[in-house]
Amino acid sequence: MALDKPYLDVPGTTIFDADQSRKGYWLNQFCMSLMRCDNRARFKADEDAYLAEWPMSDEQRAAVRARDLNWMMRTGGNIYFLSKLGATDGLSFQQMAGSMTGMTEAQYRDMMLRGGRSPEGNRVVGEHGDAQGAMAQSAAWKAWEAKAQQQLARRVESAHAASQASAAGAGHARITASVYSSHVPAIGAAIDLGKTQEPYWVPMFKGFEFSKQWMKQHTPDVIFLVYNDHATNFDLGVIPTFAIGTAAEFEPADEGYGPRLVPKVIGHSQLASHIAQAVIQQDFDLTIVNELKVDHGLTVPLNLMFGTPPAWPCKVIPFAVNVVQYPVPSGRRCFALGQAIRRAIESYDEPLEVQIWGTGGMSHQLQGPRAGLINAAWDNRFLDRLIADPADLAQMPHIDYVREAGSEGIELVMWLIARGAMADVAGGKAPKVAHRFFHVPASNTAVGHLILENQA
Ligand code: DHB
Ligand code: FE
Repeated sequence: MALDKPYLDVPGTTIFDADQSRKGYWLNQFCMSLMRCDNRARFKADEDAYLAEWPMSDEQRAAVRARDLNWMMRTGGNIYFLSKLGATDGLSFQQMAGSMTGMTEAQYRDMMLRGGRSPEGNRVVGEHGDAQGAMAQSAAWKAWEAKAQQQLARRVESAHAASQASAAGAGHARITASVYSSHVPAIGAAIDLGKTQEPYWVPMFKGFEFSKQWMKQHTPDVIFLVYNDHATNFDLGVIPTFAIGTAAEFEPADEGYGPRLVPKVIGHSQLASHIAQAVIQQDFDLTIVNELKVDHGLTVPLNLMFGTPPAWPCKVIPFAVNVVQYPVPSGRRCFALGQAIRRAIESYDEPLEVQIWGTGGMSHQLQGPRAGLINAAWDNRFLDRLIADPADLAQMPHIDYVREAGSEGIELVMWLIARGAMADVAGGKAPKVAHRFFHVPASNTAVGHLILENQA
């Protein structure tokens, strides 16, 4: 995987990055559970039974039973989480840290009294410091590794043939197209209540007939779906500006009407973790979310493009943008973020086809005496500029969205994230406009929709 990991050659050190976090998710969550007195009591009474409640790997359970912190870290544990296990056993942080060094407790304490371990010779693997030795391993870990080694040897023969076959199809992920669509809850309700054939809704759904056919021919492996959470998963307790969903799956949220009976969304943890790391390393501060319920902002566009299948036909990485509480990110920043996301996706070592969707908008205002504002001329100019001159469009300040497209029209900044990820922004060919649609009204909103294909 082509992630930038300059920290891999620091001796005796495991940096807790997105890959480690994904690997260690349940191990760390198990450790967190030990912050409750009743859980500690149950764990102490029957370790195996308690560990069986957590979907950890067998190796993680073995590492916990062996109380081998180096082993737990190897399988994704992080010391601040693991310390809850140590605390349950009555250990201090000094005892825990010392246990990973191959020294006795007294030797480690004395080293600290003498001023601590020196960085000299311990900055890079291969120097001659005192932290360059083999990892301190419990007998249980050594036995586990010996067994794993034998199993590996038995698989080498067949793996060799398989790797030759897969080498032929090796490549990177790429963005094939971007899709833009409004996400009005009433559209979801019309689908759920069987009202799509009513005269009010017929022209709106007609605008997505081509799109559904197009999706059948262009189903990607993964959709990177940019949307906003409408005070559903994130309340005023925590308001992330940009949040990426790295979980394996995401349930539809209950927005007050009961959860929509749409399929659950299957994520792509590995690609999402990769994007999180690659984008944060490009100086965008993403919030990493491992538990997320998705609202109409995400499920309605899926319905518009796929209809109502029993399962969504591809994986989806939810990417939530704060457009609810000001300050919200600028169009300029969203456009630059899209470019960072494209670089992240294209550095992923698997030949996945990825679409990026921008949702929300177009003009609408859901509040106050100005509610119901629609500006069809402005919306259509927005579509023109999004297609032909997105860099210039990205300079538009928030206040123009509010004045011209209504207070909730600000959702349109999210379209600039998807647009920024298209090839032409990085010097490639201009995208093909496969479909364009505009309709007023759906509930309080002007519905806009575009499909842009990257040209080879
Ligand atoms: C409506 C539109 C939205 O984008 C939304 O999030 C909620 C309601 C509407 O038009 O009713
Ligand atoms: Fe909305």
